[in-house]
Amino acid sequence: MRALVTGGAGYIGSITSRLLVEAGWDVVVLDSFEKGHRAAVKGFEVIEGDIREREFVEGVFRRYDFDAVVHFAAYIEVGESVEQPVRYFQNNFCGGLNLVDACIEAGVGRFVLSSTAAVYGMPREVPVTEEAPAAAINPYGHSKRNLEIALEYCRRAHGLSYAALRYFNAAGAHPDGTMGEDHRPESHLIPRVLTAAREGAPVAIYGSAYPTPDGTCVRDYVHVVDLASAHILALDAMSEEGCGHVLNLGNGRGFSVQQVINAAREVTGIDIKVVEAPPRPGDAPELVASSQKAQEVLGWWPRFDGLDIIIETAWRWLESHPDGYED
Ligand SMILES: NC(=O)c1ccc[n+]([C@@H]2O[C@H](COP(=O)([O-])OP(=O)(O)OC[C@H]3O[C@@H](n4cnc5c(N)ncnc54)[C@H](O)[C@@H]3O)[C@@H](O)[C@H]2O)c1
Repeated sequence: MRALVTGGAGYIGSITSRLLVEAGWDVVVLDSFEKGHRAAVKGFEVIEGDIREREFVEGVFRRYDFDAVVHFAAYIEVGESVEQPVRYFQNNFCGGLNLVDACIEAGVGRFVLSSTAAVYGMPREVPVTEEAPAAAINPYGHSKRNLEIALEYCRRAHGLSYAALRYFNAAGAHPDGTMGEDHRPESHLIPRVLTAAREGAPVAIYGSAYPTPDGTCVRDYVHVVDLASAHILALDAMSEEGCGHVLNLGNGRGFSVQQVINAAREVTGIDIKVVEAPPRPGDAPELVASSQKAQEVLGWWPRFDGLDIIIETAWRWLESHPDGYED
């Protein structure tokens, strides 16, 4: 079985590629390397190129027979998406559509999409189930939601099977310390807190008067290896033609910004300083997933669900790679 992994040189894509190989898949990574890292895909078959270039994508599908596409390639910064909506729709929606079209043309039957909790916007109820309205509040969330909608129509029209996996906050690193998060710039809380610990710099807390137990925002941190495992299960769950799964992937437990900082102090033994900053527009007080449907459909549940293990693996990665991947 051969899978095309787009965005396979990025954080979640590279670790998923490794687990796919360990599960017996032949993996071909496609990445533009605009954000990804060559060092993260050493030893993989790699095609360099951009999914927005339709002829390039068609050429890739002429060159290889794929059984599945696992699609991570996207821009991921919510704030940037507000400033540059066209760029986000072009990459995340139009680029994704090029791949979907190529799958239909080439008869590739299985498509896994990296979707996101951002499709829910500001959900009224927590934990968030897949029944909650898709009401994104920024171009990033809409760009992903649009591709989900396109996949559902392509399932009906062409029998394409898909799984749209709505990740909450991906976190942690491969437990062996060789692969981890290296976004430039880094906007995710756990690597920001750990980098602040290393550098002796303060970390900003955006808002401390939310209606949460300690006043700081509560999020659902799901370990990257658990996310990767869910993709393999999703590919297995799509063996019949024309199935469509929309599934949340989260830890099911929420942790506040303050709890993350306290846990990071414990793990690192460093007294991390904080500075208070104003709340950011569009930040929901609490975002926690119900992953019950993923448990039922895929038999998936997070194994690395403790905040300590998530932070420990991230710290191991950062300690051994203070400057990230050496590209
Ligand atoms: N990190 C999270 O917490 C999180 C949460 C929800 C959803 N997601 C989704 O998961 C996916 C992976 O996220 P990540 O954190 O690994 O991001 P990442 O930036 O580390 O990886 C994305 C990869 O896609 C590549 N890429 C981007 N545009 C491309 C294009 N046009 N053509 C070819 N390659 C392209 C980049 O070079 C990069 O290697 C994204 O689709 C993201 O929206 C991530």
